[in-house]
Amino acid sequence: MSIPKLVLVSNRIPISFSTEDGELKGQPSSGGLVTSLEPLLKVHGGIWVGSGGTEDSPQIRKILKEASGDNPYKFAPLFLTEEEQSNFYEGFSNEIVWPLFHDLQSRCNFDPRYWEFYERVNRKFADAVEEASSPDDLIWIHDYQLMQVAKSLRDRRPGARLAFFLHIPFPSPDIFAKLPWRQQILVDLLAHDLIGVQTGRDQRNLIACLRCFVPSVKISGRDKGRVVVSEHGRTHIEAFPISIDFHAFNEQSSSAPVLDRVQQIKTRTHDIQIAVGVDRLDYTKGIPERLKAFGYFLRNYPAFHRKVELIQIVVPSREGIPRYDQLKREVERLVTHVNGEFSEPGWVPINYIYRAVPRDELIAIYRAADVALITSLKDGMNLVAKEYCAAKTEANGVLVLSEFAGAAPELRVGAILVNPYDEVGVGAALQRALEMRPEERRRRMLRMRHLIRQADIHTWRDRFFEALEKTAAAAEVHS
Ligand code: ADP
Ligand code: F6P
Repeated sequence: MSIPKLVLVSNRIPISFSTEDGELKGQPSSGGLVTSLEPLLKVHGGIWVGSGGTEDSPQIRKILKEASGDNPYKFAPLFLTEEEQSNFYEGFSNEIVWPLFHDLQSRCNFDPRYWEFYERVNRKFADAVEEASSPDDLIWIHDYQLMQVAKSLRDRRPGARLAFFLHIPFPSPDIFAKLPWRQQILVDLLAHDLIGVQTGRDQRNLIACLRCFVPSVKISGRDKGRVVVSEHGRTHIEAFPISIDFHAFNEQSSSAPVLDRVQQIKTRTHDIQIAVGVDRLDYTKGIPERLKAFGYFLRNYPAFHRKVELIQIVVPSREGIPRYDQLKREVERLVTHVNGEFSEPGWVPINYIYRAVPRDELIAIYRAADVALITSLKDGMNLVAKEYCAAKTEANGVLVLSEFAGAAPELRVGAILVNPYDEVGVGAALQRALEMRPEERRRRMLRMRHLIRQADIHTWRDRFFEALEKTAAAAEVHS
């Protein structure tokens, strides 16, 4: 397979900036997109185009230059105005598309001004890509913030190779219908040669929306890969469930610093089993629902008092958007409530950590945890589920996973699936997980580890590029 020169485009570059004690600092951007794509660019090289925030400065450029030092890829940052950041990122991306695509339409704020900025900033990204790339490069655009970049580029470079991957779910026509700009978004997406989505369900939903809202297109092909012919040409649509760098997590989990840290954690918790939750602070992750279910569990299964602890790690996200600030308060209230109701001297049932934790620490907690409790209300994939399994080199943990996470169709081979809205069901699943015998834990975990090892991030990239090659070959036949 020939590997093209890659220009990767995402809303953020993998380093974000903040000022601490008057000093500008760069830290890894949080979220699944960076976790999955960074290892690829490290192997493959290329250019990463994305926003570096709202303020350019020589200091930022210096941090980026140092960060790309040993990397085979380079950054091509662009900078947004405060007004663009507020209307494009916080507004259209995160107050409209994010809730709508996660089936939470009642949380949308369909402000028409946001749309103006979405179009404008997508054109700005297209300008930056044009400047950073050559006509033969493969331009690979990522995620829901950038659904119109390809349209702008296609107008300027009709022969460009344009691919897209959507990291979040694609909703059904009943939900998508609420978007005032529904037809425009779909038509503009068809400027790509290839559109990848996370699951078969997302693929079916996207095809169903095209049938409903852009009836002029012709759709052919089978479930695996559909071809849509529109005024822009041919667009291939296929599901490519994203993954992690399995070997990196697997190996780091057996490193000396991680094993030392696991020992410390185990010494502290002694004969208490650990359940873990790891999430960006986002209402789609079902954190309040999980805390309520944990409270229900402690109330109804008193035999587990002093026998289980939930370590809930939350990384701050999208601070400044009102829904996210409300969620932070709600989570804090629930943690206090459950701990207030059940804590005893020597046992606090919820250990709440609100910050980004280093990779060694995260993997040590995964490794030490008997159960991972993932209760997303809806999730594109949920890489935490895959990271937990990859860190479990001794195959001794249980994954309790929301049936509404994109990871569920794959990980059902070993996970206990739950409906996150059903606290009785989640409570029963937790009981089952904590009481599961070692042989069953092992059998289930080995199945999941096998699957993730086979379908890791490098396989994901190869499948995507192979589909792209086939798409190019088919386009030639039809031209
Ligand atoms: P999303 O893409 O919606 O953020 P994912 O579960 O797919 O959700 O990915 C989240 C990523 O963020 C994972 O790689 C996870 O390890 C990382 N992460 C989540 N919480 C933290 C935290 N507190 N500290 C460090 N990394 C975190
Ligand atoms: O997976 C969805 C996503 O928006 C990714 O693009 C990113 O990994 C993560 O959530 C973090 O979001 P943000 O960049 O808005 O902090």
